[in-house]
Amino acid sequence: MRHRFFVAAAALLLVLSCSPKKRADGPVYLNPEAPLEERVQDALQRMTLEEKVAITHAQSKFSSAGVPRLGIPELWHTDGPHGIRPEVLWDEWDQAGWTNDSCTAFPALVNLAATWDRELSRLYGDCIGQEAKYREKDILLGPGINMGRTPLNGRTFEYMGEDPYLAGQLVVPYIQGVQANGVAACVKHFAVNNQETKRTSTNSIVDDRTLYEIYLPAFKAAVKEGGAWAIMGSYNLYNGQFNCHNKKLLCDILKDEWGFDGVVVSDWGGCRDDDEAAANGLDIEMGTWTNGLSGNASDSYSNYHLAKPYLERLRDGRASEEGLNDKASRVLRTIFRTSMAPEQHFGSFTSPEHFAAARKIAADGLVLLKNDGTLPLQVPQGGKLLIVGENAYKMMVVGGGSSNLKTKYEVIPLDALHEAFDGKADVVWERGYVGDTTTVYNKVVTGQNLADSRSAEQLTAAAVASAQDASCILFIGGLNKSKYQDNEGTDREDIVLPYGQDALIEALAATGKPMVVVNISGSPCAMPWADKVNAIVQGWYGGSESGHALVDVLTGAVNPSGKLPFTMPLALADGPLKTPRQYPGIKEEGNKWWQEYYDEGVFIGYRWYDTKNIPVQYAFGHGLSYTSFELADASIKRSGSGWTVSATLRNTGEVAGAEVVQLYISDTEASVERPSKELKGFEKVYLGPGESRRIEMSFGKDALSFFDADKHEWVAEPGEFHALIGFSSADIKADLEFSI
Ligand code: BGC
Repeated sequence: MRHRFFVAAAALLLVLSCSPKKRADGPVYLNPEAPLEERVQDALQRMTLEEKVAITHAQSKFSSAGVPRLGIPELWHTDGPHGIRPEVLWDEWDQAGWTNDSCTAFPALVNLAATWDRELSRLYGDCIGQEAKYREKDILLGPGINMGRTPLNGRTFEYMGEDPYLAGQLVVPYIQGVQANGVAACVKHFAVNNQETKRTSTNSIVDDRTLYEIYLPAFKAAVKEGGAWAIMGSYNLYNGQFNCHNKKLLCDILKDEWGFDGVVVSDWGGCRDDDEAAANGLDIEMGTWTNGLSGNASDSYSNYHLAKPYLERLRDGRASEEGLNDKASRVLRTIFRTSMAPEQHFGSFTSPEHFAAARKIAADGLVLLKNDGTLPLQVPQGGKLLIVGENAYKMMVVGGGSSNLKTKYEVIPLDALHEAFDGKADVVWERGYVGDTTTVYNKVVTGQNLADSRSAEQLTAAAVASAQDASCILFIGGLNKSKYQDNEGTDREDIVLPYGQDALIEALAATGKPMVVVNISGSPCAMPWADKVNAIVQGWYGGSESGHALVDVLTGAVNPSGKLPFTMPLALADGPLKTPRQYPGIKEEGNKWWQEYYDEGVFIGYRWYDTKNIPVQYAFGHGLSYTSFELADASIKRSGSGWTVSATLRNTGEVAGAEVVQLYISDTEASVERPSKELKGFEKVYLGPGESRRIEMSFGKDALSFFDADKHEWVAEPGEFHALIGFSSADIKADLEFSI
């Protein structure tokens, strides 16, 4: 890594030490002031065939080669969406054991999505971009924006919810923030990659309407509005072809239809075929065969699909040099946009500002699902606040797969509660259940000891006994990042809380004490006890500052304003995936891969529950506040070629707070079956007590359209529509009819 940096620095010094006239006379590719495309073409024509091939595949676990002879540095890739992965050994997943690479852990992307706040997404991107820059990384492997098709997907916590518009709106500022630092955001995992079960052997069979309406829009926004410089292909197949070299997705849609000029990076080990890798839009092959130097063929990197086999094809004419030039240009463009960009800075790492941003994002994404006034917590002076649950204590930054981080510190909820109630109340913790005792991932350790030999009965009895003289019970449980929970590589088996937590919550609720439940998870969980407790907070994996952020909301220091980015169903069986052919896929005769039929079409998440009138526990977009809001005087008018809705939002309560005003469009008469409503706009508005503001949201015909697969175009059919404005998909305050 250092070597790469010095090569770049030397090349830049060479340029900078010349007079302006001389610099213009020097090699164009080294001139940071020359137009990007001229630099790319100049470098390209100086490179040999072998050098061009060398930059299209990995040279280590997380780097791909540069052109040392020309002073063009390597590209350094890093996970992930939530912080900068610790330095790894050259050829392995495990951390290298450096002592200066403990990062700021930012909240999981689902937590960011729950803020519904574009500015916070920009802040997140900017901060993580600075951390990447400081660590001399050029490509940040994130953000992830696959849609929440099933609540079981093990990576739901790494994504931005179940709605393409919400994810699209939030991914754009994140990318812009990252890339403002000269670091490429690598948006993943492209595309229709919605489960971890059999993730490398499942063929997603999706009709074009569903593809274009649900699974592509956030990626399109990332490319066309966010200007993403990199995209990662996903592990699965789509229409029978692996997505890291899927012609339709990469060549036809991404590069031709959307005009993507960046680099397509394979997921680690996602490249599977010599010919397709050469022909179908993949630009950098990464991670093929883990332990590349010694695990398989000798010197595996040279045996990558885009290494020797590609060279052979180029030499005997089976692959075209034009194709190679396209790949190499894209890699060079990425280098000139990042480590050889005109404006260089060193970034910043673990700054107080980054931790403050992490805390703010974590807190603003917490969702108050239910509250009868028990929150903010009021504990009488000297009273006992009983905390129950493993997640009050367990560190969560370590684990979960490639988003695993080594952070400088992580504030657990219990410590933050002790801090907040110091001298005011007696904070007592009972574990209540033993869940996951893992404390290490890829050789990153938390340092906690989670061993506990007590039986479930003993743990429950201890918690219930301790509740007897408590003023209030605060249960902090949910999921964690171990296998079959919120975890890469495996899906969940159900949405029921694990480790007998439902029974424990019921037992605690039966004591009659005021009780608050904090569910920490990255994906939807069933809450059959919801009516028996006084308040519920949906917490997430909040990163370094998670404990502080949670306690900020519990004590009222921060007024909750998060909104669910996915539906919280009552039960898994209520959802749209009913058959094995939908999920997890079926084996069909003569086909090597699991076939997975997206029979539910566009009806996922609230599009399914709302249209089919299926009751849910908490609706998409739901989230309460410690204040109350009123929406009045809603109206709609034509503006330009579209429409503008406006309404007055008033904070009718006693404290300052924020509401997310959501705009859904409903098409009442259409030639195809459409969801009863679809999110097409939102504004997060902060108001002081008694304050009001007029809000406007505009939309065009595209917000009314469906994708006509036969015509291959978006169609807005004439007729009646409704603009629905409200505080969640189930809480509509105004229904404005209009027509085209
Ligand atoms: C994951 C990617 C990740 C890559 C590198 C893969 O297993 O799917 O999201 O960026 O590994 O760690």
